[in-house]
Amino acid sequence: MLENIYNIQLTPYKDGTIVMTATNNEAENLASKPYKRVMLKMSGEVLMGNKDFGLDSDTVKRVASDIKEVVDLGIEVCVVVGAGNIFRGVSGAADGMDRTTADYMGMLGIVINALALQNALENMAIKTRVQSAIRMDSICEPYIRRKAIRHMAKGRVVIFAAGTGNPYFTTDTAAALRASEMNCDVIMKGTKVDGVYTADPKKDPTAQHYDRISYIDVLTKDLKVMDATAISLARENNIPIVVFSVLENGNFAKVAQSKGKYTVVTNT
Ligand code: GTP
Repeated sequence: MLENIYNIQLTPYKDGTIVMTATNNEAENLASKPYKRVMLKMSGEVLMGNKDFGLDSDTVKRVASDIKEVVDLGIEVCVVVGAGNIFRGVSGAADGMDRTTADYMGMLGIVINALALQNALENMAIKTRVQSAIRMDSICEPYIRRKAIRHMAKGRVVIFAAGTGNPYFTTDTAAALRASEMNCDVIMKGTKVDGVYTADPKKDPTAQHYDRISYIDVLTKDLKVMDATAISLARENNIPIVVFSVLENGNFAKVAQSKGKYTVVTNT
């Protein structure tokens, strides 16, 4: 009934489409609650664009502009990024390097990515703070949970650098840990594919997309959404994981509003 509609919202997307959302009391009650605070987890490889190594400045700008769109929606955002574009601890160890040394080198790579992202966001007038799990006070703030929460409440994007600060942990686990500490509503795992499939969709054309899957199924089917420690942490703290493609412009904002294609990993 049109006369019962009291709120119409138009959301323009970069691809030219405009989505109109009309809500009334009933619809609003039925609609899923919008996210208030999200953790964005991205692999370092995303930031290298089409390069073989390092940072691609256009890609970093594009990712920053995607984050800006979500901030502009009034959603609090924190970010954990990996370092695979700079150094992978696991492959360093495979090449004969001491595992802990290789992991610390990876954590330093994360700091480089965090500073690049901070710079790109601040060039777009988005306020940010980088907090590192390993103290490097001349470069960024140390990780202090209560300060991070205060930054986010003020609308600043908090980028958590240096993983968990400990070797033998992945940045996925860092994302699940910080998301738990920050009481995030969701972990949004930005990948190169638009969700979780029964098999690698690039190798197997018959692979089926999951719209929703449980943490347990992800673990038992070994679906490589995130490592087992990260999945278990998210499960214990009941934080859904949304797997989506960060390669598409504007997709972060779309998925943050539960639109588009993605997979949700939850308890059910
Ligand atoms: P409020 O307490 O909400 O005002 O937060 P704030 O971050 O603006 O205040 P603060 O005075 O803590 O920080 C001012 C600036 O200094 C910010 O850009 C911080 O990121 C930066 N800053 C704070 N602590 C450190 C630190 O230990 N190391 C580095 N490198 N920068 C820091």
